[in-house]
Amino acid sequence: MRTLIKDGTVVTASDTFASDVWIEGGKIVALTDPSQRAALTGSGQPDRTVDAKGKYVFPGGIDCHTHMDLPFGGTTASDDFDTGTVAAAHGGTTTIVDFAIQSKGSSMRAGLDAWHAKAEGKAAIDYGFHMIMTEANPGTLEEMGGLVREGITSFKMFMAYPGVFLVDDQQIFRAMLRAGELGALITMHAEIGLPIDVLVQRALSEGHTAPVYHALTRPEVAEATGTERAIALAEMAKVPVYMVHLSAQRALERVMEARDRGLPAYAETCPQYLFCSEDDLRGEPGNPWKGAGYVCTPPLRPAHHHAHLWRGLRNYDLQVVATDHCPFCMKDQKELGRNDFSKIPNGMPGVETRLYLLWEGVRDGRISMNRFVEITSTAPAKIFGMYGKKGTMAVGADADVVVWDPNQEKVLGKDTLHMRVDYSPFEGRKVIGAPSAVFSRGELVVEHDQWVAKQKQGRGQFVRRGTFGL
Ligand code: URP
Ligand code: ZN
Ligand code: ZN
Repeated sequence: MRTLIKDGTVVTASDTFASDVWIEGGKIVALTDPSQRAALTGSGQPDRTVDAKGKYVFPGGIDCHTHMDLPFGGTTASDDFDTGTVAAAHGGTTTIVDFAIQSKGSSMRAGLDAWHAKAEGKAAIDYGFHMIMTEANPGTLEEMGGLVREGITSFKMFMAYPGVFLVDDQQIFRAMLRAGELGALITMHAEIGLPIDVLVQRALSEGHTAPVYHALTRPEVAEATGTERAIALAEMAKVPVYMVHLSAQRALERVMEARDRGLPAYAETCPQYLFCSEDDLRGEPGNPWKGAGYVCTPPLRPAHHHAHLWRGLRNYDLQVVATDHCPFCMKDQKELGRNDFSKIPNGMPGVETRLYLLWEGVRDGRISMNRFVEITSTAPAKIFGMYGKKGTMAVGADADVVVWDPNQEKVLGKDTLHMRVDYSPFEGRKVIGAPSAVFSRGELVVEHDQWVAKQKQGRGQFVRRGTFGL
């Protein structure tokens, strides 16, 4: 099967140029000057031609932070690997990296096997796994080597969620040292959870139960301090470190200081921290409960943080925008915390809306198109050991390709999106710019927002990622 995407403007992290894109055997096989087409097609007409005139052609999005089918907060994230990856593809994302979990007292092997079982036969696009490490003991530290050999080359550790995920500094440090031996990357949920828990208990004892107290009990300083501590531990261990879901100005400043000192500190933020704020968590007048749909961790911050995060993206202080996709329905799931904000399952839907929203940043000049491609695809591919295969428009790369129509309008909402969740944090928001065609390993999977590939569930392949190479 030979596919030609003709007359588009190819956008990579570094370049923008008019080019035809030729796809065969699931790979990009040529990027050619459209004026040379007649000579090239002499050797055989394409089986399919997609007209990309007036459109941009860029590498499929890579969302390196998702939680499909995650048991959390007394329930399970509402998207599984089937519904969540289909939704991702509709929004122009062609690879996800999800978080497998080592349950406390159990092995990482068991956690990884469980996540393979969740994804296999279900995922519609390619996927990899990070491993959430809830214990760094001699057994799990030894196990890290085997996981890295199987392509699980990054590990997430938590300073938050005492009794569930939290690990102490000594365990984090041991894991970092071991990661250094293996070329693996430690990623960090950097909020100091023990004092946060005290604030939560105090707020509840004072009768504060509304969703906004989720933010008021997780102050910015808790994230800034966690970020500084994680960077200090990584500096002592002489290893890189990656902050997941960075939400606020002071945490960003800690990353900037580290980078200015030449340390390999990296950070991602998420669309919710760029587009939503603490005001959303307050709900509506007379209906504070509506804020439950915006409960995620770290919490949404006051809106003045947005400008700092956009500046961080522009200035390379933040490297990635991922989603932390972790949806829970308002009905039956967020409801668990109706009378106690601390019981609202933490997380928001986002895997489908990332590119739509970030394109607003391109349209209003906050980031360039090349930077858009870099933060949504190229940088996560490089940081998480997939670059070359994923994350770029180059001969030999997987043909994970998005044809993006910059004039296509869409109104975001629960009924216009494909995520399995009964609300949208962006209900009614009109965006301009949308994928008109999405290819996954050379197969056209989504065209004009319709799933068009023969197969859906199970066509995605596990991506065995390489070690940290930056
Ligand atoms: O609210 C969030 N972020 N839920 C998912 C768990 C995590 O900490 O990433
Ligand atoms: Zn986290
Ligand atoms: Zn997460």
